[in-house]
Order: sequence, then structure tokens, then C-alpha cells
Amino acid sequence: MTSAPQDTFTIIDGRKISTDIKAEIIQKVIERKALNKKVPHLAIILVGDDGASQTYVDFKVKACKEVGFHYTMMRFADTISEDKLMKHIDQVNRDEDVDGFIVQLPLPPNISVERITEKIRPDKDVDGFTNRNFGSIVSKNPLLLPATPFGVVELLKRYNIPTEGKNVVVVGASRLVGAPLSMMLVEEGKATVTICHKYTKDLKMYTLHADILVAAVGKPGLITADMVKQGAVVIDVGTTRVEGAQYKNGYTLKGDVEFKEVAPKTSFITPVPGGVGPMTIASLLLNTLRATELRNP
Ligand code: GUN
Repeated sequence: MTSAPQDTFTIIDGRKISTDIKAEIIQKVIERKALNKKVPHLAIILVGDDGASQTYVDFKVKACKEVGFHYTMMRFADTISEDKLMKHIDQVNRDEDVDGFIVQLPLPPNISVERITEKIRPDKDVDGFTNRNFGSIVSKNPLLLPATPFGVVELLKRYNIPTEGKNVVVVGASRLVGAPLSMMLVEEGKATVTICHKYTKDLKMYTLHADILVAAVGKPGLITADMVKQGAVVIDVGTTRVEGAQYKNGYTLKGDVEFKEVAPKTSFITPVPGGVGPMTIASLLLNTLRATELRNP
């Protein structure tokens, strides 16, 4: 039996949910101030002058300003050595005033992301990138959850999209998104999760079974309408800069999903931009608030 074609679908508004979360955080900051408690302080480390990284960092600074957090920007040339960067991270780890910090990725090729990430104190790791925080997904009391997966789970919750017992297919097994999100959807979400990756044979065979399909690869147009079950929820984590003279800033952001053709088959779908992206920043703020509350209750 085939289900009737869907003629309405909901576009999940990540910007709105992110604004709601920021309003909740503003309230918490006001309460902390009234009680003479420490105002959250986020530090951001940016190495090199990658245009996309600069844009993302600008969004993070803007978000800190919006919610009343203190922030510190630390910029280094892409010629910095790994050891020197490690020393700066050590300093921020010890800085009592900094509650949380991030090292914006990507890093120059001569610097090991793994080594740098693991240097971050887990209780200040507000991106949730360290192995300690990855592992804490399966603990009863996670410390700081990986920010983008946290944002996806929060979107599903706030749109009352149930995950328990659902078939979730996550396309992309990255250490920062696909892998931790899959574990969170199993642990907290009680879903049946299939992880697909670049070695998966016949991707469509899996995606067609998804009640909830998450695409987190970074390949524009990977998910087409023929790969999506009627009525599925589609979450697009892909955010690829595609350059072209026809775009206002010389580039546009494209997701992994062919939105126009896929959307009419779905019940809910996230757009790019304006879906998962703003939620990563909202999660970063929530994690920074949590890190502050843990250190200065
Ligand atoms: N580069 C792209 N996305 C992210 C992110 O969420 N955090 C950091 N630190 N770097 C990134």
C-alpha cells in the first residue's frame, strides 16, 4: 500500500527556535546578575583568515552580545605552531574568568585537530568536541553535549517530533556531527538508528526506510526526492559554501538536500540556511551557560 501524497509540510524554523532559546538565556543572565552571580564568559580562538570561519565566528560574537555574555576573541596567524597554540589553550584552560571556549575549525593542515581538541578542558569544552564529552553522551548525566547534535535534538523536541521507536537514518558518520547525533538519538531519543557513510552501498535502500532522515555530509544535492519516504521528517545539517557571481556575497549556502523537490514529500523539513545552523549557536550558548552554572552555581 502506498500512502496518499502529502500536500502540506512544515518548514522547521531554526531561527525562531534559536531566538526563543536566546530569550530564555537572556532571562537566566538577568537572574544571575540580580543574584550577583558570574556572567557567562565565552572565549573564541580563531586561527588564520578563512572567510567562512570568520563569518561563523562573527555570528557567535553577535550571539554573545545579544544574550549579555562576556566574550573574548583570540586570533592567531595561520603560521602559529601547534605547540604555541597548545600553550594558549593551556592558558585559557587555567583562566578562572573564562567559563567556556571554542577553537574554530578548520585549523591549518600543520596542526592536529585531535591534539588541539583534546587539550581543551572538558568542563570548558562548549563545542562538546572532546572525547570525554563525546563519551558522556552515553552517561546518565552528560557534561557538555556536542553542540550541533544537541541543536538537532532540541529542534525535534521543540517541534514535538517523537523519536522513540522511529527509524532514523543518519547519512554521514563524522566525529563532530553524524556519530554523536546517532548516539544521542539512540540514548535519549530511543530511536532505531542506521548510520550511513561514504562506504555505504545503495544509500537509497536505507534512506527510503527513514521516518527521520538526517543528512550531515556536506555534499550539496546528495538527497533527492526519490530517496525520501512519503511523510518523512528531513533534517539537513549540510552547509556548503557554493561560489557564484550570481550570489549577493559571491557565494550561497547549500544543504545536502534538494529542498524544492524533497520538501513536498516530507512532513517536516529544515531549510538551509535557517534550519540547523542557528541551532548550533543556540547550543553553544546553552553549553556556555551550563559550563558557568557548573563552575559557579
Ligand atoms: N567549524 C564549523 N563548524 C564548527 C563548530 O560548530 N565549531 C567549531 N569550533 N568549528 C566549526
